Amino acid sequence: MELSKLKEAGFYDVAIDPSLDLFAEIEKLKKEKKAIILAHYYQEPDIQDVADFIGDSLGLAQKAEKTDAEVIVFAGVHFMAETAKILNPSKKVLLPDLRAGCSLSDSCPPALFKSFTDKHPGHLVISYINCSAEIKALSDIICTSSNAQLIVESLPKDQKIIFAPDKNLGAYINRQTGRDMVLWNGACMVHEIFSLEKITKLKTRHPQAKLIAHPECEEAVLQIADFIGSTTQLLKFVEKNEFGMFIVATEAGILHKMQEAAPGKTLIAAPPNNSCACNDCPHMKLNTLEKLYLCMKYEQPEILMDESLRLRAKKPIDKMLEMSRKLVLAG
Ligand code: 13P
Ligand code: SF4
Repeated sequence: MELSKLKEAGFYDVAIDPSLDLFAEIEKLKKEKKAIILAHYYQEPDIQDVADFIGDSLGLAQKAEKTDAEVIVFAGVHFMAETAKILNPSKKVLLPDLRAGCSLSDSCPPALFKSFTDKHPGHLVISYINCSAEIKALSDIICTSSNAQLIVESLPKDQKIIFAPDKNLGAYINRQTGRDMVLWNGACMVHEIFSLEKITKLKTRHPQAKLIAHPECEEAVLQIADFIGSTTQLLKFVEKNEFGMFIVATEAGILHKMQEAAPGKTLIAAPPNNSCACNDCPHMKLNTLEKLYLCMKYEQPEILMDESLRLRAKKPIDKMLEMSRKLVLAG
């Protein structure tokens, strides 16, 4: 198909010959274009299986910064691909579906956030990586779910802090560190859907099961969790821990790699508070193997960014990467 036809179809609703072996085609395209596929754990299993690197938000940012591939194909959501472009601007960064956003990032519009920070002079602004480049540019330090606590703990006790955009992660860090950070009122639609009542019933039925949860979950779920961590930390916990059964309170895509890493263990996706598959992130799941193939073949849609915004957004990400390196070395 010609590129112009593909553009007319908005890239997305294009029929692909069903007899095409997409796995083989994607491998060919990787070599031909010197491309690397970076995927988040929340991507569908087929995408994880063709990826060169699968990770949490921190691991993916670190990989994107260092790669010498010419094309970065980002199988994740927009803020992740944008972060890759901010960190490694000479590379072509592709996102299989440009509409793959994030409810948490959307809950923090830049103009409103600017007036919020103006109302809190003297506060250091720490933003969770799940935000737009504009919000990053208004922040002092970026963090992810795997380094947020370490970063906050490394700051002087009397440092006034604004934490955005996730109020659940912010409140969790406040409880862990005894701080009183001012929180932006944002949340992730996927991590707020878990039903405390259904999880409690599951725990009663399976008293041997350990509840593991992502810190984007609400306080009530975190209070009864046996372990709390980023997606990579949850995966490692299941792999290394002696227990045989886990209730997993994060997006269901993680179960694919978790089951591979711990084949003999029983994993139960924590149930949502209704009957749909709402613990699937609808944004992450906009990417499909077909769209991944098309985006590699046509090198579209591409993440492009204004250079002055990129430089302002890069500063707080660099700060996080530098602090992360030091804190890991020190720990
Ligand atoms: P981590 O990748 O830091 O575990 O965060 C999960 C998430 O919600 C990404 O959108
Ligand atoms: Fe955003 Fe939540 Fe989806 Fe992660 S799981 S991309 S935080 S909406």
